[in-house]
Amino acid sequence: MPLFDHEEYNDHEQVVFCRDAETGLHAIIAIHNTNLGPSLGGCRIWPFRTEDEALTDVLRLSRGMTYKAAVAGLPLGGGKAVIIADSKTQKTEAMMKAFGRHVDHLGRRYITAEDVGSSVADMDAIKTVTDHVVGVTGGAGDPSNSTAHGVFIGLKAAVRHKLGRDDVDGLHVAVQGIGHVGWYLCEYLHEAGARLTVTDINQDALKKAEATFGATVVAPDDIYDVEADVFAPCALGAVVNDVTLPRLNVPVIAGSANNVLGDERHGIELRRRGILYAPDYVINAGGLIDVARFAVGFGMDEARQKLDRIDDTLLEIFHRADDLDTPTGEIADRLAEERFQGSA
Ligand SMILES: NC(=O)c1ccc[n+]([C@@H]2O[C@H](COP(=O)([O-])OP(=O)(O)OC[C@H]3O[C@@H](n4cnc5c(N)ncnc54)[C@H](O)[C@@H]3O)[C@@H](O)[C@H]2O)c1
Repeated sequence: MPLFDHEEYNDHEQVVFCRDAETGLHAIIAIHNTNLGPSLGGCRIWPFRTEDEALTDVLRLSRGMTYKAAVAGLPLGGGKAVIIADSKTQKTEAMMKAFGRHVDHLGRRYITAEDVGSSVADMDAIKTVTDHVVGVTGGAGDPSNSTAHGVFIGLKAAVRHKLGRDDVDGLHVAVQGIGHVGWYLCEYLHEAGARLTVTDINQDALKKAEATFGATVVAPDDIYDVEADVFAPCALGAVVNDVTLPRLNVPVIAGSANNVLGDERHGIELRRRGILYAPDYVINAGGLIDVARFAVGFGMDEARQKLDRIDDTLLEIFHRADDLDTPTGEIADRLAEERFQGSA
C-alpha cells in the first residue's frame, strides 16, 4: 500500500499506524498540518473493507480539518483518526484506552474527538490515559446547535450578498434533512420569519415540522425542484450533482452538509448559472468552534465572536470569487492555504 505516493497524501506531516494485539486495535492517525496549532479531528470507528479504504478516508478527512480550522480562525491544525472496527460489535473500552495511549505518545500533536462510531463514553475512556481528547462528559456536548447557529449566520451573509437583503423575514428556505442541525436551523429561520419547505426520510420529524413551523413538506427527491430563495442541504453529501444541479431553482445554496458538491465541476457550473454556494466547511464550522473551546481553552464569548466571523469570512470569499470569476469553494481553499501555509 503506497503512502507517500497515495493520491490523498497531500503533504501530510505524519501518519501513524497503531496496533494493539491484546485489544484487537487497528487504527490510523493522520496529522495533516500543525502550522497553526495541534491537529484536532474526530476518531471515526468504521468496518472499512480494506486498509487502503481506511487510509484514503483518514488522509482526506485530516486534510479537510486543516482547511476548516484555518478558515474558522482557530489556532489548530488538521488531523483525524480511524479505527478499523464495527463500533456495534467490536469496540471495547480496552480498545479505546489502547487507542488513547497511541494518541498520548504523540504528545499533543493530535487531539482526538467524537466522530461517526465513537461516543462521549469512548472519549471518557480515552481521557483516563491521555489529556489530548475533547468531547468528554461535562465538555462541549452535542455541537449541532452551534453548527446550526453558524449556518444561520452564513446563510444570512449569502442572502445579503446575492439578494441584497438584510432580513430573513419572508425568505423562502428549502431545508433538506431536519435531523440535529437541520432542526435547529429551522428554529432559527422560523423565529426570524422565514417560510420553510422541508424534506426528510423521517416522517415523524416532518409531521413535527409542519406543526411547529407551519412548514410545507415535500418528498425527498422533490426538494431539488422547489423554487425558493435558499436551498439548505443538511442531510447528505454530493447532493449537488449532474442530476440535481439542472433542477435547482434557487439563487443561494447554504447548509450544513459536508461535501455538498459531487465534484469540483459542479462549483464551476453553479457559478456559471449564477447560483451562490456557501462552501460547506466554512459555513458549518460552528460545531468545530464549539469543540475547540475545550482544546484551545477559550470561553463562550470568544466562541461567539468566532461564530459571528463566519459572516465576514464568507463575504470575503464571495467578493474574491466575484472579482476573480472563480468558484467560491476554490477561493475558500486559497484563503485557508494563505492562513496555514502563511504561518509555516
Ligand atoms: N452535527 C454537527 O454539528 C455537524 C457539523 C458539521 C457538519 N455536519 C453535517 O451536517 C449534516 C447533518 O448533520 P446532523 O448531525 O444533523 O445529522 P442527522 O443524522 O441528525 O440528520 C440528518 C437528517 O437527514 C435525514 N436524511 C437522510 N437521508 C435523507 C434524504 N435522502 N433526504 C432527506 N433527508 C434525509 C435524516 O433522516 C436525518 O433527519 C451532515 O452532512 C453532517 O456531516 C454536522
